[in-house]
Amino acid sequence: MILDKLTDDGLWADESEFEASAKKEKGCAAGAKFKREKDGSEFLGKLGDMPEYKEIAFSQSKESQGVTCEVGKEALATLMYLIFGMITQSFRTPKFLLVMLQVRNEYTWDDRRVQQLMDAINFNRARQGEKERTHVVWFLSQMVHGYKDLADAKVRDVSFGDYIATHSAPPEQINGRNGGLVPLVGLLEVLAFAQVIGDTDVLGGSFANTGFAYEQDANGKEIARIVKIDAGASFNFEQPLSAFDLKKFWERDPEGCRAFRLPPDRLRDVRDVQYGNQSVHNLEWVKLSKEQKSKIQECIVLAQELHGITPKLLDIIANGHGIQHEAEHDLRGFVAIADKKYLKRCAQNIKEQLERFSM
Ligand SMILES: Nc1ncnc2c1ncn2[C@@H]1O[C@H](COP(=O)(O)OP(=O)(O)OP(=O)(O)O)[C@@H](O)[C@H]1O
Ligand SMILES: [Mg+2]
Repeated sequence: MILDKLTDDGLWADESEFEASAKKEKGCAAGAKFKREKDGSEFLGKLGDMPEYKEIAFSQSKESQGVTCEVGKEALATLMYLIFGMITQSFRTPKFLLVMLQVRNEYTWDDRRVQQLMDAINFNRARQGEKERTHVVWFLSQMVHGYKDLADAKVRDVSFGDYIATHSAPPEQINGRNGGLVPLVGLLEVLAFAQVIGDTDVLGGSFANTGFAYEQDANGKEIARIVKIDAGASFNFEQPLSAFDLKKFWERDPEGCRAFRLPPDRLRDVRDVQYGNQSVHNLEWVKLSKEQKSKIQECIVLAQELHGITPKLLDIIANGHGIQHEAEHDLRGFVAIADKKYLKRCAQNIKEQLERFSM
């Protein structure tokens, strides 16, 4: 059903519908906010990569490396989160669009990292007699009204980050709009799905890759609904980014012993949950409540429902209506490896996770 809707609507939109409207204030990827003229809806745009971008960014400063988002990968991961949020009826994922937009606009023209990359790309192009590159595919995430990063959540007078550092387990409730505690809905589902999809930065070290918005439940009571944004660090199944190199440790562990002698940022129990790429701290399985543990286990089982759906997602991403030649070129590398490197690897990972979490 959801797939039918996605196929009908498509993920691709046309540049003429959008106008850059403000600076992108948070996060490291270069970008801008956009307004869609027909309905006034607002989007947070991240500058996508293209093959030349990657090559040049990696040969330049470390800063330039984080300037773009890997559009195909982020789109695939976001769609998978979106579907899982629907299957579990728990968290939300903002609607997003892929749009071929000008790199330089009122809000990106003074970003030196972008300037340097574009200059380098076009210098090489001019030498080879190719025309100047002005556009790339952007990832546009529709702004969720009332969205706040988890970094802004509080549990009584304790910040979300301090709560996690103290308890090594997520809170069940956070402060509501009027101070009293309200249920936090969807966080365990997101954390569980992050294990399936290899999202090593699921919450983000500074808790800015997942957020929440206040809503009323069916009985009119206030809840904080989890909103999963930034799925860009997904499909990290191996070290160095993954603190959990499952295969390595299963193979190495003939005694079935789960206490690894590892650096502090590695997991101590195979069921511990990594939540940030930069974080030296993880959520600890032993600290989770019985209910939290069962929820994670149930979600891993449910994730198997994605098997039949995921291959179609690649078509939706790569075969948009009216997709332009340059966009197709930018996504070609992604499409070539996506099935093997992301989808098949993900399916295999679900099997490994079932084993991991059923211990
Ligand atoms: N759909 C949205 N609605 C409201 N706010 C959003 C939305 N998407 C992103 N934001 C805000 O913008 C910030 C940056 O977004 P995001 O995490 O996607 O980018 P980034 O960290 O720069 O990207 P990357 O990690 O790929 O480099 C978020 O922390 C959040 O505060
Ligand atoms: Mg982010």
